[in-house]
Amino acid sequence: MDNIFPIFNTLLSVQDKEKLLNQRSLVIWLVGLSGSGKSTMARGLENELHKLGYLTQILDGDNLRSGINNNLAFTEGDRKENIRRAAEVSKLFANCGVITICSLISPTNEVRAMAKTIIGIDKYYEVFISCPIEVCESRDIKGLYKKARQGEIKNFTGIDSPFEEPVNSDLVIETDKYSLEYCHNQLVENILEKIKPENS
Ligand code: ADX
Repeated sequence: MDNIFPIFNTLLSVQDKEKLLNQRSLVIWLVGLSGSGKSTMARGLENELHKLGYLTQILDGDNLRSGINNNLAFTEGDRKENIRRAAEVSKLFANCGVITICSLISPTNEVRAMAKTIIGIDKYYEVFISCPIEVCESRDIKGLYKKARQGEIKNFTGIDSPFEEPVNSDLVIETDKYSLEYCHNQLVENILEKIKPENS
C-alpha cells in the first residue's frame, strides 16, 4: 500500500446516497450449489424490488466470470479471488446506496466469511438457497452435472470440489421443498424489512 492515498473520509456517506434513493442499501449474498435456484431467485427478487421502486444491481457468478473475472477458473485459489472481487464490487454498489443481489456458489465457510468481512456485517445478508445435490443434478439445467460426471469438467462443485453447507445464514430457502412462488415471497418479505427507509 505504499504511495496510495485513499480519500474515504472526504467522500459523501452511504446515508447521503440512501436518502437520495429513499432506500437502505444491502448486499444480499445468495449461496448454493449450481442448479439450486440462485439466479432464478435473484431475478425474481430484482423484478419485484424494481416494481416497488427500489434501485438494485445483480452480480451473478456466470456473468462476472465473463467480464471482470474472466481470468479465473475453479481452483480453490481462483474461487477465493472470484469471491473477493465480487465482494469488493458489491461494497462499492452498497456504498452508493444500491441494493446488490449476488448470486455466487461461494462454496466454503472461508470465502463466505471473507465476503462478510469485506462488505461489513451491517450490510451483508446471507441467504442459503438450499437444495440437495441429487435434485440439482436431476434438474441439470445447464447440462454441467452430466459433463462433470463424464469427467469433461474438473473441480465441479459438489462432485469433485467441496461445498460446505452454510450454518449461519440469515435466511434459508429450500427450493426442493417449496414452490417457486412460496420461495420468492419468503425472500421478498425478508428483504423488504431490511431495505425500507428508516422512516417508513
Ligand atoms: S464460485 O464457486 O466461484 O462461487 P461461481 O458462482 O462464480 O462459483 O460460478 C459458478 C457457475 O459457473 C456455475 O453456475 C456454472 O454455470 C459454472 N461452472 C463452470 N464450471 C464450474 C465448476 N467446475 N464448478 C462450479 N460451477 C461451474
